[in-house]
Amino acid sequence: MTAHAAEPSASGEPLLVVNDLHKAFGGHKVVNGVSFSVAEGEMLALIGPNGAGKTTLLNLLSGQHKPTAGRILFSGMDITGKGAATSRAMLRAFQDGGIFLKLTALENVMVPLLTRGVAVREARDRAMAALCSVGLEPVAHERGERLSGGQRKLTDFSRCIAAEPRLVLLDEPTAGVHPHVAEAMVSHIVKQQAANVGFVIISHDLPWVFAVCPRVICLAGGEILCEGTPERVGGDPRVHEAYL
Ligand SMILES: Nc1ncnc2c1ncn2[C@@H]1O[C@H](COP(=O)(O)OP(=O)(O)O)[C@@H](O)[C@H]1O
Ligand SMILES: [Mg+2]
Repeated sequence: MTAHAAEPSASGEPLLVVNDLHKAFGGHKVVNGVSFSVAEGEMLALIGPNGAGKTTLLNLLSGQHKPTAGRILFSGMDITGKGAATSRAMLRAFQDGGIFLKLTALENVMVPLLTRGVAVREARDRAMAALCSVGLEPVAHERGERLSGGQRKLTDFSRCIAAEPRLVLLDEPTAGVHPHVAEAMVSHIVKQQAANVGFVIISHDLPWVFAVCPRVICLAGGEILCEGTPERVGGDPRVHEAYL
């Protein structure tokens, strides 16, 4: 599949460049030659049917999985198979709100701040502010294991936004959360974007991702089926077919 370059950032290079990425589990090809790039501050929606390889693609970007082949560049640095661990400017939230269950919500949000050298008091303040902004203040001192699924996802989301990254990878952020909470999350995403934070957002909730992301990639069977504006992708008969 050919490379689809995003508009370059002011520095001339896209922030994230994914080049001919492949991932197979055993003989099962899950990501099969995916290339795209994300500019600084860009909002990109990643859609596609269940099993399309969306989460696996995020796992490759964040370094949870090593690709079978292909390269990932972030800010000009080769992070293939290393991901977020080497690039703290890229953070991801998990489909199931993958937080530390033995840590409190507050501690979870503090972790990426502390690992990047923010002083404890400041980390605590910033983490608390992030939790308050999504309405999690009442459970800030509860351990992850005592939080509901929606609260875990919100904690995970807060962890990403508190750390002021350049790019956030979100895996179905609004799935399974209360509609009011989802709305708050979306308004946060838009606010972050105004501060030039970029997002790659996996979602099945097309109306909202189409509203906030000017560019959409539809993945099916581990390949990019089509790419373009929400109007273009939403109107593509192949996308409708893939979803059926
Ligand atoms: N760790 C793994 N080992 C084996 N197969 C996997 C693994 N992770 C994902 N898969 C398979 O890869 C395919 C794509 O999964 P996934 O990336 O979760 O899709 P999506 O997020 O688009 O629903 C599925 O068939 C899934 O079973
Ligand atoms: Mg998934």
